[in-house]
Amino acid sequence: MHESPSEYSRRELYAEADAFVRECYSELGRESEIEDRLDEIADEIERRGHYDHTAFELEHGAKMAWRNSNRCIGRLFWQQLTVADARDCETAREVHEACCTHLERARNGGNIKPLLTVFKPMIDGDRQVRLWNYELLRYAGYRTADGIVGDPDEVELTEYCQSRGWEGEGTRFDILPHVVQIRDQEPELFEVPESAVGEVRLRHPEYAWFEDLGLRWYDVPVVSNMRLEIGGIHYTAAPFSGWYVSTEIGARNLADEDRYDMLPAVAEKLGLDTGDDRTLWKDEALVELNRAVLHSFAEDGVQIVDHHTVTDQFERFEEKEAAAGREVTGDRAWLLPPMSSATTHVFENDYDNTVKKPNFFYRNPPATLSERRESLGR
Ligand code: ARG
Repeated sequence: MHESPSEYSRRELYAEADAFVRECYSELGRESEIEDRLDEIADEIERRGHYDHTAFELEHGAKMAWRNSNRCIGRLFWQQLTVADARDCETAREVHEACCTHLERARNGGNIKPLLTVFKPMIDGDRQVRLWNYELLRYAGYRTADGIVGDPDEVELTEYCQSRGWEGEGTRFDILPHVVQIRDQEPELFEVPESAVGEVRLRHPEYAWFEDLGLRWYDVPVVSNMRLEIGGIHYTAAPFSGWYVSTEIGARNLADEDRYDMLPAVAEKLGLDTGDDRTLWKDEALVELNRAVLHSFAEDGVQIVDHHTVTDQFERFEEKEAAAGREVTGDRAWLLPPMSSATTHVFENDYDNTVKKPNFFYRNPPATLSERRESLGR
């Protein structure tokens, strides 16, 4: 999603609030309250330059933002989102602790539930809270003489953490600390306690050797680098999570050449001829890697969905939205699974990629990190 202006004039802010309140209250059957609420918001903006969302506005606004997320294939469950209101967190430590609570609540013993934790929004153009992490659980990436150890996507954040005195163990799977910034203060680093971390060791339903690859992945993806915008208010820290689609791990994180690049190792164990593309060794390795992900998560009782099932669920979402008289917007390139895409109905469809609000938007990465990225030539 493209950046939308992060600062609105008072007039623009009111216009955004007006559109949101009308839509939100209509969906909730609270039409009779609209005009009073809008008067109140107009007063608040006049007096303070901004306004506060009520608990139900925040909750329904966040659900609408998920429903409007064009790149998300998991939207059938948008009404099941739980919103944790953490707008009262003041210090970096409080924010970190709320993030750990998020991890535990979202994990829910393996029966993962969609959750969003919302921190203080931007006030008068000043960002109050920002998480430097891409996700609340992610593995470090270390530049070494023999290449990158760990997740190449995290080299910049890892080096920043090291520059702040953090030392990882240097394995391929070291959980990065939370990096929390309050306003324009220097960010604080917090090690993620074991009680907040969940991981699945990968093994294969048939091949015993698979375990020897020593692969694992964390259980809950909690995206923490996007801004949630509701009714013109910018929630610059609003980590959210669902459960994994197996291909995110098996066909991207562990398979991409610029990530863990595991296809050659898997193919070699399978005894495939990797010298010739026409043996389809990459395809076969992909399938087995993905079977291992699904099998291991299932055996450990951690919720995960395969790319066929999630696409069927998305078709039901499209039907339900049509029945509710709403247009589904989507970004086809992202909705298509990264393997076997033509076996899914998304392949035949076109999607309108208009960005509706409320929604989640990318933010510019902290300058310190983008400078590091540039120096790496990426
Ligand atoms: N693709 C990201 C990852 O591999 C996660 C994005 C959100 N995914 C989700 N299933 N909610 O970590």
